[in-house]
Amino acid sequence: MSKTDNVKGYDNTNINWYPGHMAKAKRMMQDNIKLIDVVIEILDARIPYSSKNPDIDDMAKGKSRILLLNKADMADPKKTEIWKKYYEEKGFYVNAVNSKNGTGVKATSEIIKKACAEKIERDRKKRILNRPLRAMIAGIPNSGKSTFINSYAGKAVTKTGNKPGVTVGKQWIRLSKDVELLDTPGILWPKFEDRQTGLHIAFIGSINDDILYPEDMAYELIKILKEQYPGVLNERYGSKSGDEGDEIKELIEDSSDPVEILEKIGKIRGCLKKGASVDLLKTSKLLIDDFRSLKLGRITLENP
Ligand code: G4P
Repeated sequence: MSKTDNVKGYDNTNINWYPGHMAKAKRMMQDNIKLIDVVIEILDARIPYSSKNPDIDDMAKGKSRILLLNKADMADPKKTEIWKKYYEEKGFYVNAVNSKNGTGVKATSEIIKKACAEKIERDRKKRILNRPLRAMIAGIPNSGKSTFINSYAGKAVTKTGNKPGVTVGKQWIRLSKDVELLDTPGILWPKFEDRQTGLHIAFIGSINDDILYPEDMAYELIKILKEQYPGVLNERYGSKSGDEGDEIKELIEDSSDPVEILEKIGKIRGCLKKGASVDLLKTSKLLIDDFRSLKLGRITLENP
């Protein structure tokens, strides 16, 4: 197996990454799910496929389901719209949100009511009035669960805990007369179905970068950018000022080999080792940082 084709220490076909704390988190979620009406899964809008955990479908059977494409401010808006439609067709209630500045967050209460329409109707028939809908936030690490809860619940809410019928220790945040939110989010383990989903999850900082070779991430990013965002690499790394102050443009993308492209970027950016060969590790980190800090623009890595 070549170095550029491997995930550190793991076989590509069977990435065995399932730390003990994730098993504990899963048990906790299974317990909590029994108490709620609706699961709100927070996805990262830049990787709407890889940030969704398929196992939650089993755990949340019979519950209403909402998917929030979070960090929409960092993702490609056209693709976010496409993903929204895709998941809606699969029966989810979907919204794009930016938990950091609050865009789209408040609409969640209305979406919860829509998603729970059947339950509301059942309660009404049984003459159960004013029973709030109970929601739980879930998502893989770093998807923005805490940021979302803080933005959604704000400061003005009162916590209601330890009341009869509620498991001792559970804290519910009363958001309105209709909605209560469990204040601890469910942590889902990222899926490692294949090498590509593992790499994509690494891009959003959901797993420690040390698990993967940054070079592998860089090659994957270059491949995606070349295919789906042609011109972005040329734009970002291909222009520099010449001696006369004039702009020199270099075509970074005119190679089909990601290694060659990474080398070109490293050369232009002066990421060199002793002896003037290109430092591919340093160049990879530069590229990954540029992606994470939006210097390459709003990029969504996956298509439905
Ligand atoms: P988690 O609970 O799911 O693990 O995620 P958390 O809320 O801690 O969010 C992880 C990072 O993502 C945080 O950045 C947070 O600010 C950022 N984030 C969450 N939602 C959004 C969003 O909609 N848009 C953007 N742009 N960022 C979002 P951080 O760098 O770890 O912290 P900080 O420097 O922002 O405080």
